[in-house]
This record gives sequence, structure tokens and C-alpha cells, in this order.
Amino acid sequence: MRVLVLGSGGREHALAWALRRSAAAQEVICAPGNAGMRGFRRLPVDVSDPAAVVALAREVQPDLVVVGPEEPLARGVVDALTACGVRAFGPSQRASRVESSKAYAKQLLRRARVPQPEHRIFDRAEDALRWVRSQGGRCVVKADGLAAGKGAFVCQDAREAQAALASLMLEGKFGEAGRRVVVEEYLEGEEVSALAFVDGECVVPMVLAQDHKRLLDGDRGPNTGGMGAVAPLPHVPASVAEAIRRHVLEPTARALCEDGAPFRGVLYAGLMLTREGPKVLEFNARFGDPEAQVLLPLLDSDLAGVLLAACEGRLDSVRLRWRSGAAVCVVAAAAGYPDAPAKGQVIEGLEDPSGTDRLVFCAGVEERDGRLVTAGGRVLNAVGLGQDVQAAREATYRVFERVRFDGMHYRTDVGGRVLEAVGAQG
Ligand code: AMP
Ligand code: GLY
Repeated sequence: MRVLVLGSGGREHALAWALRRSAAAQEVICAPGNAGMRGFRRLPVDVSDPAAVVALAREVQPDLVVVGPEEPLARGVVDALTACGVRAFGPSQRASRVESSKAYAKQLLRRARVPQPEHRIFDRAEDALRWVRSQGGRCVVKADGLAAGKGAFVCQDAREAQAALASLMLEGKFGEAGRRVVVEEYLEGEEVSALAFVDGECVVPMVLAQDHKRLLDGDRGPNTGGMGAVAPLPHVPASVAEAIRRHVLEPTARALCEDGAPFRGVLYAGLMLTREGPKVLEFNARFGDPEAQVLLPLLDSDLAGVLLAACEGRLDSVRLRWRSGAAVCVVAAAAGYPDAPAKGQVIEGLEDPSGTDRLVFCAGVEERDGRLVTAGGRVLNAVGLGQDVQAAREATYRVFERVRFDGMHYRTDVGGRVLEAVGAQG
């Protein structure tokens, strides 16, 4: 089977790497990929342009297209490929609204009776502020549309909320994506990422993962696209994972079918585990980045086989197998990330940084004068595997004994919450 992976980040590098291990996939092509994905054939394409993707697929003749990022899904790339008879893994434009419109996701959840924070949707900043004040000020303000994971503002009081509302709705920080906002109740608890392969009503959950969204150690600083991840989560009981499947993932998949938008792809629920049970903070219509970088190395099942089964409506026959142990991913970011990442810094130590327990996936990387240089905010993903989270974490940080670039920064506490919680339990 020839597989075409669309996208250019660390998630897509991890997908390509996992697909290449698949017995079912003879050839893996990345479009456009990035210069750090050595060993893969790479072809240029604008992944968000359905016509361009279809033209590429006609040329390459893949047996399967795997869509990594959200933008092409929201633009209808899967619909365009399907219409031309190309098998594509990822939801339709309609189904991907669970991610591309937070307002739609909220309404869907309400109909499906899936627990979520108290919230309101606003088109006018004054109305939003009035509600925030009536609720005591502490809240989360979110852009309705896609904002690369940076569109949520956790506000401690009405003054912070006012600033967030002004930057989204009046100054247009994320353009049209932020003209409409969702304002919601602030929830306390442990945050987890629950991803599942979904085809219509059939839901096959993966092990749970935890993202590290804030820029700095101790969950401080602004929200980012994700600074690290860990999986599985030994401190979260199996009964909670089961509750997430029964009360979140399955009802959501059913509600999408009832909406005439059956979901085929990876459904990702970002959840807060509150005292009243899991509540949904957001949905994504794809693998998380950097969650994919820890989940895929742990997956023992043949990835291409699983994706193909989903495309062919055979997901109900799939039982996922997982390797024992844990994986930790630490994102190395460029100076200035997330606002204005510095580009063009030479990356050293990438020649052969991986031992058997270590991997490096590349994201914001390009080639200049024969050398790999930084080309984006999240530059590299160091991934370590081990018998438990502690061992995986040690393996991960060893990557940075060799790999470096000017201005490189990363969180030093990835997996720390898991270790603390396991310590407290044990
Ligand atoms: P989102 O883009 O909706 O995933 O939000 C980004 C991050 O903001 C989440 O990963 C949480 O850490 C935080 N967040 C979002 N919504 C809430 C909420 N209602 N209560 C507390 N934290 C939240
Ligand atoms: N890790 C969060 C995301 O992929 O949106």
C-alpha cells in the first residue's frame, strides 16, 4: 500500500514514522513534510487547497491519504478526495466542525447530553463582558474558530476577560475566527486528552494522554500549541477512561451521525476531570500534536491496518494493542515562541540522536545551504520510551545532550504531574 501523509509538523513526522513500521504500508510519502523528515519522499503541496491536494493524489495514486492537521479538514480536503474516489482518513468538512466551530461543538454536546462547562456564545464584546461580570469575573474566553491552539484565554478576573475580549473581538487578533467568542466557566481539575479512532457510531479509544499547553514550567505562561505530552496516565483509573468512552466519545459520535455528519477519523476530546466527572473543554477532529508523538510509538497494532479498517467501515473488528511502558514527548521551541519565533538557527546534533529508547520528530525545520535550520515556533519533538513515566522522561531529556540550536527552550517538567500523582497514590 502507498500512503500519502498530509501536513508538515511533528505529528505528521510521527504518523509517517509509525506508518513506515506498518507491514501494510510499503511506501510512505509526505506532502509537504519538512526537511527534518529524512528518509521519506516529500512532495510540495498547499494542504489547505482541496484542488491542489486532489491534483497531487492523481499524480501519486496513493492507496490511502492520511490528513494530519485541522485546516485541510475544515476546508473539505477529505470530501474532495472522496469525491474523486481516493481513500482518505479524516472527517468530512461537516464532521470536522466539532473542532472548527466551538459554538457548533457546544450545541452538539448539549444535544448529546455530554457534560461541559457552563458557557455562553457572544457576537458582541459588551454582551460578553456583562455576562462575565455577572459570573464573578473568573472565566475562559475562546475564539470560536481555528486559532492554532492559541485562542483560549484563562482569565482570573473581569479585567483580564475584558482585555481578551477586546483583542479577539475588537482588534481581530485571530481575524474572523475570533469575532464570535465562547465564554465559559473556569473548571478545576486534572486535564486529559482522550483520543479515539471513530467510524460513525463505532468508537475505539486509545490510551489516555496529557498535554502540557502552557509555555513554561509549572503550567505558567500563555497557552501554546502544546509543549509536551505523556501517555499513558497511570494515575487515572480505568473506570474514568470507561466513563469518558460511555459518556463523552460514544454519545458525541452518535450525535454527529444524527446530524447527518458521521465522523470518520480521530476524535480527540480535551477534558477536565472535575469532582463531578469528566467535562469537555474542546474537541479536535484529528490526532493531537504533541499527543500523537507519544501515542503512536506506544501503539503496537499496525497503524495502516487500523486506518484502513476505519475507512472501510471495519473498525468494530479492531482491538488495539499497546506496548507496555510509557512515552514522554518534550517540544523544543524557538526563542520568541509563541508570539514571534526566531527562524534560521542552525540545528545541531540531529545526525543520529536516537537510541533504542529515543526518537526525534521534526516540526519547524527547513534546509538552508545543506544544513537543517529552525523554521517555526515548535521546532523539534524529543520522545523517550521507558518502562514507566520516570524512565521515559529520563530518556527524553537525554536527547538534549546532543540536539540544540540557539534560543532553544523547553519545559523541564513534562510528565511531572503524573509522577506526583502516582507518588501521592503509592
Ligand atoms: P482549548 O483551546 O479549549 O483546549 O483551551 C486551551 C486550554 O485552556 C485548555 O487546554 C485548558 O488548559 C484551558 N482551558 C480551556 N477551557 C477551560 C475551562 N473551562 N476551565 C479551565 N481551563 C480551561
Ligand atoms: N495538543 C493539542 C492539540 O493538538 O490541539
